[in-house]
Amino acid sequence: PRCTRSRRIMLAVFVLVAASVSRPAGARYTADWTSLDARPLPSWYDEAKVGVFIHWGVFSVPGFQSEWFWWHWQGEQPPDQKCVSYMSKNYPPGFSYPEFAPQFHAQFFNPGEWADIFKASGAKYVVLTAKHHEGFTNWGSPNSWNWNSVDTGPHRDLVGDLGEAVRNRSLHYGLYNSLYEWFHPLYLADKKNGFKTQEFVMHKLLPELYNMVVRYRPEVIWSDGDWEAPDTYWNSTQFLAWLYNDSPVKDTIVTNDRWGAGCACKHGGYYNCEDKYTPGQLPKHKWEKCTSVDTFSWGYRRNMKMSELMDLPTIIKDLVGTVALGGNYLLNVGPTPDGMIPVVFEERLRGVGDWLGINGEAIYASKPWRIQTENTTVPVWYTSKGESVYAIMTAKPPKLTLQLLGPKTSGATKVTLLGNPKPLPWSPVQPNAGLTVLLPELSCTPGQAWTLKLDGIQ
Ligand SMILES: *[C@@H]1O[C@H](CO)[C@@H](O)[C@H](O)[C@H]1NC(C)=O
Ligand SMILES: *[C@@H]1O[C@H](CO)[C@@H](O)[C@H](O)[C@H]1NC(C)=O
Ligand SMILES: *[C@@H]1O[C@H](CO)[C@@H](O)[C@H](O)[C@H]1NC(C)=O
Repeated sequence: PRCTRSRRIMLAVFVLVAASVSRPAGARYTADWTSLDARPLPSWYDEAKVGVFIHWGVFSVPGFQSEWFWWHWQGEQPPDQKCVSYMSKNYPPGFSYPEFAPQFHAQFFNPGEWADIFKASGAKYVVLTAKHHEGFTNWGSPNSWNWNSVDTGPHRDLVGDLGEAVRNRSLHYGLYNSLYEWFHPLYLADKKNGFKTQEFVMHKLLPELYNMVVRYRPEVIWSDGDWEAPDTYWNSTQFLAWLYNDSPVKDTIVTNDRWGAGCACKHGGYYNCEDKYTPGQLPKHKWEKCTSVDTFSWGYRRNMKMSELMDLPTIIKDLVGTVALGGNYLLNVGPTPDGMIPVVFEERLRGVGDWLGINGEAIYASKPWRIQTENTTVPVWYTSKGESVYAIMTAKPPKLTLQLLGPKTSGATKVTLLGNPKPLPWSPVQPNAGLTVLLPELSCTPGQAWTLKLDGIQ
């Protein structure tokens, strides 16, 4: 139908009201932490709970030790002897790290296949390394001349191509960006000046970062590599004020807390605190645990061994404990330089998805409950959604009964096992406190975790 004048006016009024709900008229974030830290986190992020992290770059070519290979080989003093002798044994004298770039072929990279795997994992967002500490950009950054995936190596816009496929499957797309670059001459000069100059920030980092946001419209900026210098050196608060006020992603963008020395666990959007951060109790602020299937590395390692990888039950336990404590779980895989996701990682991701297919109701858009965990019969983590409480057992009870002491029961209490339609018999432990549930035979799910849905409890 054609838009009549009065309809148009009503629409205009509606838009104005809607806009004023999301942000009070005229209220803009200012370039200071008090203002920026007060920004509410866009709600999609807390609801998503599960993401896939991808570390991919020139470091995937040597595929040795970790994505920190270049630094361990030629940066740190003294250098890591394993890296030095690996290079002297296998490469001609004088071989330099940038010479790995032409072998970053990505010839089997099929973004649709990757995105299908990520979708099948049950993840709701995907974060790719747009640029790691080596400085190589996985897109044709004009500020990274000859050190980007379009000029050399894959000759392809990896960031853009994956983004299109990921978004096609209704997943949110985020980009990891390292602030510092180990060997960038401008960075090294600023560092030598005690970070009193900002040549690297003004001529490399910021132009590139603004360009990346405008070009790819990420919904997460996973910032890293901040710790050597204060946020004032990186111009972090100025950048974030632009991101939250004026960028094309101002309403949906989510950021982490790595914006300068001392920021982690204190400033920014959600908190990563440290890699693989595992709080002992419920944090007050939204947080995310990032961790890697390969426990030794984020980037691909050609010599990884099965025993060095997290198995599926370990991943599920970790995911459940994270979500119960209010966190998101960002699980990393390192693709090969050919562009393949190693099949063992694919298997883990699909296993997570299979588990979430049955138990996702207890995970997505859940909130931490009054009590987060107990270990009366077996370790149990609680989550909640609306009036329902979920008790996730991360081990199989030795007998077919499970005792829970946290919930307060009532006459209306109802217990079911997710994936099983029949209500389960239960009896109170004390008049209104605790219950013993008679379990059905638990299926041997590869994830080794089962969820009870409890209604009518407090
Ligand atoms: C995304 O979807 C559109 C239309 O549905 C299609 O034309 C396009 O090829 C898809 N892109 C990828 C990378 O799957
Ligand atoms: C960086 O911060 C300074 C103030 O500290 C400001 O004058 C300048 O405009 C900022 N530059 C950018 C590109 O954000
Ligand atoms: C749960 O309790 C058992 C038996 O007391 C103990 O062996 C196990 O380590 C506990 N698990 C956790 C996660 O606390």
